[in-house]
Amino acid sequence: SRVAVLIGGISSEREVSLRSGAAVVQGLRAGGYAVEEVDVASKALAIPAGVEAVFIALHGQFGEDGEIQQLLTDMQMPFTGSGAASSRVSFDKVLTRECLERCGVPVPKGELLEKASDRTIQIPLVVKPPREGSSVGCHLVFKESEWEAAFADAVRHSGAALVEEYIPGRELTVGVVDGQVLPVVEIKTASQWYDYEAKYVTGDTKYVVPAPLEPEAVAELQSIALKTFDCLGASDFGRVDFRLSPEGRPYVLELNAIPGFTATSLLPKAAQAAGIGFSELCCRIMELAHL
Ligand code: DAL
Ligand code: MG
Repeated sequence: SRVAVLIGGISSEREVSLRSGAAVVQGLRAGGYAVEEVDVASKALAIPAGVEAVFIALHGQFGEDGEIQQLLTDMQMPFTGSGAASSRVSFDKVLTRECLERCGVPVPKGELLEKASDRTIQIPLVVKPPREGSSVGCHLVFKESEWEAAFADAVRHSGAALVEEYIPGRELTVGVVDGQVLPVVEIKTASQWYDYEAKYVTGDTKYVVPAPLEPEAVAELQSIALKTFDCLGASDFGRVDFRLSPEGRPYVLELNAIPGFTATSLLPKAAQAAGIGFSELCCRIMELAHL
């Protein structure tokens, strides 16, 4: 059948989305779909005639935050992934935290600040814009002298910044596809942390899948990932990011409703380890498209 893949978009993650989108287009074509590529360069969304459903390969604002999901719902055009309401919550790290705390999912200590001087969380900490992805505007603060500039950059986008305690330990992520929880992926950065550079530029980050963990730890992480997915009302697929403290305590950082989707991105890597190849993964998600 004829489908469209929405690529690019107008967020700070446009470049990432162009890469995800190109890979999804290939994956769907390999699976037999007739695919139209639609570069979303403004909020005026035009879906080509004859398209029966769309794969949203966008990241960030106007892509992952519920707005485009609502537009597509209003047009009665089936789309992939989570619905508008769930996407709105998952894309907002403050709303996500509130929801997860109510569901009893462990999250780091956090506070939303408008002024740098109101901080109560101790250094080391992480400061981030509430509604961004790919670590855009996000800073790890280890010294008092770094705080002001880090806060100013994080607050720039939305007038408030989310401050969270820094959890030392390991960086892990767990994908969910069509109700199936995937093997845990561990991210090992060469530099101090998994920032935008380590994600997309330097090429020296190592990914270990399945992550070397005791079976009980794997079961706990996977069960928390599913609980997070359900708690946020997510659909079809997503990726839950974790920190695992040296004492073995898992903390959920967020759910990415439209995680990176190049053939070598985290969720596709995890799917591959579970025996689901990239084209099959794209097609399975496409088949789940709904309003
Ligand atoms: N925000 C990026 C695309 C990710 O979560 O993979
Ligand atoms: Mg994210």
